[in-house]
Amino acid sequence: MSRRMLVVGNWKMNGLRTQLGDVEAIGAFAADHPTVEVGLCLPATLIGAAADKAGGAFIGAQDCHAKTSGAHTGCLSAAMLKEAGASCVIVGHSERRTDQHESSADVAAKALAAKAEGLQVILCLGESLETRDAGEALPFVLGQLADSLPAGAGADWLSIAYEPIWAIGTGRIPTMEQIAEMHGGIRGKLAELAGPEVAAGMRVLYGGSVNADNAAEIFALEDVDGGLVGGASLTAAKFGPVIAAA
Ligand code: G3P
Repeated sequence: MSRRMLVVGNWKMNGLRTQLGDVEAIGAFAADHPTVEVGLCLPATLIGAAADKAGGAFIGAQDCHAKTSGAHTGCLSAAMLKEAGASCVIVGHSERRTDQHESSADVAAKALAAKAEGLQVILCLGESLETRDAGEALPFVLGQLADSLPAGAGADWLSIAYEPIWAIGTGRIPTMEQIAEMHGGIRGKLAELAGPEVAAGMRVLYGGSVNADNAAEIFALEDVDGGLVGGASLTAAKFGPVIAAA
């Protein structure tokens, strides 16, 4: 099954309105590269303003609450993000699993809340360096997938992002063999959990120190359907070549 490449920038806690020019330039670049689906997951404060400037890119958020409303100070529901202009949301990023102590059950609930609002969802998985060095990366990530995958997972609304924690923002990436092994393993596990058709259609992104120099080699791997990109998505000058590599 052919899967359209998906390249998404995750700006994390970066970006003020002065950076909207880069959003606009990335959106224009995306419009010129229609074979690739391009998105930017921005701080919530920028979503509304960015949605008007996104051109050929979609705008997403970086987290949502699992509930639709209520007494949750500082949190945002999927409906709020959608109303602001987001069409996608990341759930289960390792920074949130660590900083906010989110469990895989929390992540699955957030994914379902986003789906209920019609948002696309990118579900993140990834092992620590300790787990990798112990030779436990594959079983750990597949276990995380089993525990985080929302009921009714479908390729039309859900993508998976494999982000080894030790590769995030470090400039260090796994070998191509390690990435290929993990992505193949994730697709195999998806077939077991959600059926072969869902597994064949679902995009599995790689994230962790993707940049203009390594993107083409990573994206050429059979089970890699694009990337979730942090630092190299913050400007059009850096993100453009990563999009072009897909
Ligand atoms: O979600 C993207 C991410 O965690 C990777 O960040 O800066 O290593 O590309 P970076």
